Amino acid sequence: MAMTLSQRADALEHQMIEELDRKVVKSVLFTSGEKDPRQPIMPQGAAREQGKPKHFLMGDDPRLPRMPEKPTLLDFFKYRFAPANHLLQSATHALKGGHSEKVVLACLLHDIAVSGFIRVDHGYWGAQLLEPYVDEEVSWAIRYHQALRFFPDESVGYAYPDAYIRYFGEDYRPEPYVEQAYQEARNHKWYMTSRLITLNDIYSFDPNAVVSMDDFIDIIGRNFKQPKEGLGFDGSPVAHMWRTIIWPTKFL
Ligand SMILES: [Fe+2]
Ligand SMILES: [Fe+2]
Repeated sequence: MAMTLSQRADALEHQMIEELDRKVVKSVLFTSGEKDPRQPIMPQGAAREQGKPKHFLMGDDPRLPRMPEKPTLLDFFKYRFAPANHLLQSATHALKGGHSEKVVLACLLHDIAVSGFIRVDHGYWGAQLLEPYVDEEVSWAIRYHQALRFFPDESVGYAYPDAYIRYFGEDYRPEPYVEQAYQEARNHKWYMTSRLITLNDIYSFDPNAVVSMDDFIDIIGRNFKQPKEGLGFDGSPVAHMWRTIIWPTKFL
């Protein structure tokens, strides 16, 4: 027999309470830098606090929008990546500039690590997330845009970003590994693909600009190999990284 609307609401509420009864523990990643890493990860006996047996969260976090069972790249944009305006505006800029689909896709995806995962070394994390699903040139360009952002190229009109002076101060100099990555990229056959990400990577936007993912659905369809099992469940070498974005608070 089908449940009435109020029975369904009751069942849903019951389920929410059940789920919230799970203890949520943050990964070290989310607290590192804020606490002494030599201290224990969690207080002794934290699982049994308040005398009430509590289990640790092992699946969906009820505080987050639930992902579909077989999530697509678009689902990650919808449910897990912070408002993607920066990515959409960069990709729109590349599209209007008449660049290839590879370049447009690279611009659309260049900062997904920042939007949904990890800031530090975001070019490398982003490239790794994408490697099984895009042309090698696209992930290569995303990996190296991180370094190229710090180095001007007057031949194409790319200057050191004013925003970086504000962000990091006048005296900031990229670390040697960033300089080395720049040197590698400078002499690579795909240098310009990565450079084009930096040229379309704009921080001062027209706040009234209208951007939409609709412009990129077909480009994603043609250039992103969406696994039929869903991102996170295809057994690829990076599936666990997508699962971590789906379930950032899963205990193990
Ligand atoms: Fe970036
Ligand atoms: Fe960016």
